[in-house]
Amino acid sequence: MKTINRRNFLKQGGVVLAASALPMSLIEVAFGKSSEQNFTFAFISDSHITHIKGNEFVRNWDQGLIRAVAEANLLDPRPDFVMYGGDIAQLGKPEEIDHGLEILSGLRDKAYYVMGEHDYYVDLGEYWRKQLGPDHYSFDHKGVHFVVLNSILTWEKWMHKKWDTGMDRMKQMARLDNPDGQPFMVGDAQRKWLKDDLAKVSKDTPVVVMSHSPLQKIYKGWNFWTEDAEQVQALLKPFKKVTVLYGHVHQIQYNQVGNISFSAAMATAWPWPYPSTYSQKESLLPKLTVEMNRADPFFERDATGWQFIDMATGDVAVNYQLTDNRNRTVAFSDKAGKPVDAQFQDKANRIPPQTHY
Ligand SMILES: [Fe+2]
Ligand SMILES: [Fe+2]
Repeated sequence: MKTINRRNFLKQGGVVLAASALPMSLIEVAFGKSSEQNFTFAFISDSHITHIKGNEFVRNWDQGLIRAVAEANLLDPRPDFVMYGGDIAQLGKPEEIDHGLEILSGLRDKAYYVMGEHDYYVDLGEYWRKQLGPDHYSFDHKGVHFVVLNSILTWEKWMHKKWDTGMDRMKQMARLDNPDGQPFMVGDAQRKWLKDDLAKVSKDTPVVVMSHSPLQKIYKGWNFWTEDAEQVQALLKPFKKVTVLYGHVHQIQYNQVGNISFSAAMATAWPWPYPSTYSQKESLLPKLTVEMNRADPFFERDATGWQFIDMATGDVAVNYQLTDNRNRTVAFSDKAGKPVDAQFQDKANRIPPQTHY
């Protein structure tokens, strides 16, 4: 029997909302009506732990992660594990990574980690890997093949050019709209690794891919982008069902490209605006994404919330509970042949995004 259904989730979520919205995702993977293989895992992302000096850290970002860990520990039924979607740190300092990992060590369940650009560019991921191991790997869990990629690499020449300090390189990549930033990519070596890894997996096996940047091209100016997204998607195409979960964008995004469902996780730190509302430029935000309302800058948790991703149907259904916004569900519609947000798909019913100047 399914252990979680939407009603249970919403009931559970009601309690959560009473305690204010928390930046958490819960993902259910299910194979059928009575499969004992069904399981859930939690997804926490983008904490951006920021060191001030000595043992002082920016409190808001600490609190977001502390609350997500506390909530993950209260989940019932227990998730089998927790995925962390990247950007533990703001500037990749050892103090920030250590402090974030200290908070995350409070998790009751095993955690798997994804590399974010804010963890990486100061020392090309050396300290992160020392603490957490390889930045790309795969594992099997109850019949599902999980792949973790480091999608925030960029041109070798740029990464390895002569920098005065690693922090100079980090500051180029840590800014959201720096014209001197470089596009993210998975890169040749890792794509070769992915190809070999997937060659051992039957095409019927559900595949879940975790990356930090979206493995689709949304807005290059902010690196809501992976340069070799099409090549990665081509490697995933032969599989019956693939789900890509990612962090980095700090906002709700979803998309369906053939057999691949994409869902972004919200951040525990802060929400980003949608690129189109900020830059006033055309962006490739997936048509299926209905933008969440923009944040109230005086409430640091606004526009973050819960999402419950249900993989039980074979196609992803996502339930959202957002602060200062209406609950919504995005579910695959057989009629439309794609995920549909029944309540918000109609433009007239959407909450229009704010215009930023
Ligand atoms: Fe981030
Ligand atoms: Fe990021």
